[in-house]
Amino acid sequence: MNLLQAKGIKRTYGSLQVLKGIDVTVQEKEVVAIVGASGAGKSTLLHILGTLDRPDDGEVFIENTNVFTQRDRDLARFRNEKIGFIFQFHNLLAEFTALENACMPGYIGGGLKEKDIIARGKELLELLGLSDRLNHLPSQLSGGEQQRVAVARALLNKPAIVLADEPSGNLDSHNALDLHQLFFKLRDEYGQTFVIVTHNEELAEMADRRLVMQDGLMLP
Ligand SMILES: Nc1ncnc2c1ncn2[C@@H]1O[C@H](COP(=O)(O)OP(=O)(O)OP(=O)(O)O)[C@@H](O)[C@H]1O
Ligand SMILES: [Mg+2]
Repeated sequence: MNLLQAKGIKRTYGSLQVLKGIDVTVQEKEVVAIVGASGAGKSTLLHILGTLDRPDDGEVFIENTNVFTQRDRDLARFRNEKIGFIFQFHNLLAEFTALENACMPGYIGGGLKEKDIIARGKELLELLGLSDRLNHLPSQLSGGEQQRVAVARALLNKPAIVLADEPSGNLDSHNALDLHQLFFKLRDEYGQTFVIVTHNEELAEMADRRLVMQDGLMLP
């Protein structure tokens, strides 16, 4: 089944055409890597696939919803429920613990009760090897641990798809490999679908498909 389908995506900043008509489809349970030179438009595309930004032209379907036909408020709810994000810099909130950070998408929305949100947050942090770090603040965690908290946060609402932008860009090679293996474990054991923008060739090679972007286009 096509979980995500993007058709004819274009995006212009001023006179600069950053995306020139991109088609992408992602199947359920697929891990798709997007690679390409700096400035090729990878992050711009990922933001649009994640509905954080609207394209100038083209459509994105996620689980058969034509996402950009929704009003901003509905789109925000859709995004919080259906899409998990992992960024290069984890964006954890400094004054909240690992568990509170992981639980944040549940508190924003998703329809779970507080006790179920906390149970899910704990379950995910345990799965990610952080059961003895629940009450640590981000500043008390290593870079790899912080990024695993960000993974737990991305998964909290059981999203249809997780979008990651250079998730291991800030990690040493050991922690990067651990994180990459975790993505495949989540896919194999839970059927989680991933689209990952990366400069890491090892990760791109592990993926089910490696898509290459160049100058605002997807290479055939
Ligand atoms: N908000 C913006 N306003 C103007 N130009 C932008 C904006 N965002 C991105 N761009 C430009 O669009 C182009 C593509 O940027 P994008 O961030 O998508 O590249 P990228 O492939 O993710 O690169 P990198 O590998 O360095 O992260 C760049 O030339 C960038 O300067
Ligand atoms: Mg980028």
